[in-house]
Amino acid sequence: MNHALAHGARTPRLAFAGRRSRSLCSHSFSCFLFSASSASSAVKRLHTESNPRAAREQSPVAKRPAKKTPPTPAAPRRFVVGVSGASGAWYAQRLLAILLEQGHEVHLVVSDYGKRLLFDESGIKTIDLESMCPGLYKSLSATQRADATRRLVLHPNKDVGAVIASGSFLHDGMVVIPCSSSSLGAIAIGSGSNLLTRAAMVTLKERRPLIICHREMPLNLIDIRNMETLALAGATICSPNPGFYLLPKSIDDIIDFTVGKVLDLLKVEHDLKTRWEHHDAE
Ligand SMILES: Cc1cc2nc3c(=O)[nH]c(=O)nc-3n(C[C@H](O)[C@H](O)[C@H](O)COP(=O)(O)O)c2cc1C
Repeated sequence: MNHALAHGARTPRLAFAGRRSRSLCSHSFSCFLFSASSASSAVKRLHTESNPRAAREQSPVAKRPAKKTPPTPAAPRRFVVGVSGASGAWYAQRLLAILLEQGHEVHLVVSDYGKRLLFDESGIKTIDLESMCPGLYKSLSATQRADATRRLVLHPNKDVGAVIASGSFLHDGMVVIPCSSSSLGAIAIGSGSNLLTRAAMVTLKERRPLIICHREMPLNLIDIRNMETLALAGATICSPNPGFYLLPKSIDDIIDFTVGKVLDLLKVEHDLKTRWEHHDAE
């Protein structure tokens, strides 16, 4: 499925792009077809709440280049990513870096507590390509940064009139990563009172992939029932829940395990270390 290309989609006027961006492979840029001619004039930044821990360093996970050896880029596709106020900012950063690196278009919506988490866990005050994906950003030329910036489209969570709130806006799937219990519940009851939950509802009604990376522990019965409701409605519950059979050696490996699963669900190729290979029993 390639809705964006099939329908000659354009970068929406209501959305605004992050200030800068990057992508690894020049080939992916040369074949990128989304128009974003008005994006630079609509550039805005989102500001997180002020916080005394502002000086915190970016995570080592985010500083990594998106991939060591990127697979050949597929045709560009369009995804929606929601970041809510559950722990796990690094998952979202890693996912964004890989999607953008491969030349895809990403529509990002961050809840108020999602902004706080980005700040608390990654020191991000202003959400843009450079802050969200610093490793990727550094690896790109100026031209590639400009192109990737156009492909990272940031939508205010309060704007339920943004394009991703409409089923007429074609995309290839939405991931809520990380997803709080609060957002899980709001999506499960069909609340569209903010853009993140509205976009998720729309993704379900349009029968597109909705991947919910819920993070909480332990789970109460309400969370479990909300997961059941969403699973029955067509969502995939993909909680960050690392396997250790690949013998992770770092936090990077643990992050990649979950992000690789999400990419598999989106049918995005990747070379993250997530696959079990047969070992003979001793
Ligand atoms: C530092 C911090 C960490 C949090 N971690 C989680 C979490 O892992 N899971 C969760 O469900 N809520 C977590 N919360 C609570 C949510 O942020 C809170 O319920 C919020 O209302 C969620 O709103 P949102 O879904 O619109 O982002 C955390 C809050 C803070 C401040």
